[in-house]
Amino acid sequence: MRQLKRQSASLMGALCVASLAHAAPPADEAELARKRGCLNCHAVDAAGEGGKVGPYFSDVAQRYAGQPQAIESVAERVQLGSKGLWLNKGVQVPMPRNPQVTQEEARRLVAWILGLK
Ligand code: HEC
Repeated sequence: MRQLKRQSASLMGALCVASLAHAAPPADEAELARKRGCLNCHAVDAAGEGGKVGPYFSDVAQRYAGQPQAIESVAERVQLGSKGLWLNKGVQVPMPRNPQVTQEEARRLVAWILGLK
């Protein structure tokens, strides 16, 4: 058990460092994404650490580039779940609801994601 804890702590550390080193996002949003479990399914980009179940956050940024008004609807999908929007990137599974994020956190996370290059 202790061993397991230590392993997951170092994995978390690795995820955090990797996303910071790669896209240099503000530390607090990357940390929030990790804490809320987003990185279990998403990586910032193909080179980033994290789950590969959902689209890369860099692809999300690209899709909604120049549409700051998209923050609202994308944030709503983060909270309530989404399916079928990312088939063109080979994503076949839906994103379940994320009741652990507040509306404010969802908006903050999406603003960060859409700002990634
Ligand atoms: C269980 C895995 C899983 C978790 C946890 C998860 N996602 Fe997703 N996410 C997905 C999948 C799968 C999709 C693609 C859904 C689709 O095709 O419509 C997705 C799509 C998205 C999108 C694109 C939505 C759009 O409107 O185009 C964003 C942004 C996103 N996720 C952010 C997050 C954030 C932020 C969190 C943490 C609060 C999170 N995700 C947690 C799997 C996940």
